[in-house]
Amino acid sequence: MSEPDADEPTDGTGSPGARRLADWNEARLRELAAEHGTPLYVTDLDRVAQNCARFRAAFPDASLRYAVKANAGRAVLETVREAGFGAECASAGEVGRALEAGFGGDDVDYTAVNPPARDLDAVVDWWRDGADLTVTVGAADTLDRLRERGYDGRLCVRVNPGVGAGHHEKVRTGAAAKFGVPAERVDEVVADARADFEFVGLHAHAGSGIHDEADLAAHREFLASVAELAAEVGDLEYVNVGGGVGVPYRETESPLDLDAVATAVREELSALDAAVALEPGRYLVADAAVLVTRVNTVKPSAGEVVAGVDAGMTDLLRPAMYDAFHAIRLLDPGADEREERPVTVAGPICESGDTFCEGRPLPAPERGDLLALGNAGAYGYEMASTYNSRPRPADVSPEGDVLRRRESLADLTVLER
Ligand code: LLP
Repeated sequence: MSEPDADEPTDGTGSPGARRLADWNEARLRELAAEHGTPLYVTDLDRVAQNCARFRAAFPDASLRYAVKANAGRAVLETVREAGFGAECASAGEVGRALEAGFGGDDVDYTAVNPPARDLDAVVDWWRDGADLTVTVGAADTLDRLRERGYDGRLCVRVNPGVGAGHHEKVRTGAAAKFGVPAERVDEVVADARADFEFVGLHAHAGSGIHDEADLAAHREFLASVAELAAEVGDLEYVNVGGGVGVPYRETESPLDLDAVATAVREELSALDAAVALEPGRYLVADAAVLVTRVNTVKPSAGEVVAGVDAGMTDLLRPAMYDAFHAIRLLDPGADEREERPVTVAGPICESGDTFCEGRPLPAPERGDLLALGNAGAYGYEMASTYNSRPRPADVSPEGDVLRRRESLADLTVLER
């Protein structure tokens, strides 16, 4: 679907470190929109496979699990599994999807954060049925609740290293009290875990969207503090340092130097006699999808133009929730000849936060135009909702295969009596 961009660094696997919105085949995106309607996710599984290969090349000896929450689509899960990754799951629903997509039970980690009883019941049932999965617990209460259910399988303790990193306050987890056992209680909880379970490892996650120098410095501090805790605990099969590796959302940003992250991980953890595990989500899927939307309203106002589009925060929540930047491209061969204007791209939801950008210089849009939003593959479809009773969009491959059909109005009421 796209040519590797010669400007981008490659890392020996032959694929560029980032796929830009400009690299997507514009004519093909227009055809797909005409055939499948908009809003439309277009997900390129080949790019997911390339990202997996690049990540593997940077961490050749690590145990790698994909953070399913970034994109739990069946086709994505199968692609990641075929690339040799395990699955890190945040809920019973994700564990179920991973098992259905063919991940072996022993390649599944369930990261239990305040786990609902129903989730624990389901996970313990799968374990009884033979899935040799690992449960990662972040509170002593969860150990009690697993014991009550007769679970004595593989268990990993999530620690709170007191250091976080990430693109937004809402996604920095490393120091948030919600996540993991506080450093001063780790010994006690690990002793408890060793007594009744097959205790295998320590886990920590700094946060999501680590990208700039400051993030990398915070991430290194995080790694050092995880290493310190792991050295104290000793006798570990693995130390899992989570996910968080970011991607460039702005076209002017360079891709993250994955080797720099790998070097930091090696330097900070090499003294430990334990395997290293990582669980990337965003890095593997973000640039593998775009969201295509059609302009239905063009409203000139004082200093700008408001382009009303048929996708909204229900289809791609990140701008509304984190003020996240997503590149926007007008899919028109004559785009370059159009006058540039400050454009606010706004969705159909009755919320002022339902905008994808405000006053961004873009070619002046016209009614009927198609716009593509880049880096929609991670936490895009996955965070979609049906708020305002808007059905969720379809998701297709560049070849036109339907990965997820569009939700219908009838689907919206299917659960109601
Ligand atoms: N492991 C754990 C325990 C996590 O909580 C997460 C993400 C990951 C791995 C994967 O992190 P990644 O490699 O994707 O950064 N919705 C937000 C991101 C929330 C991330 C939650 N945890 C966003 O759209 O930016």
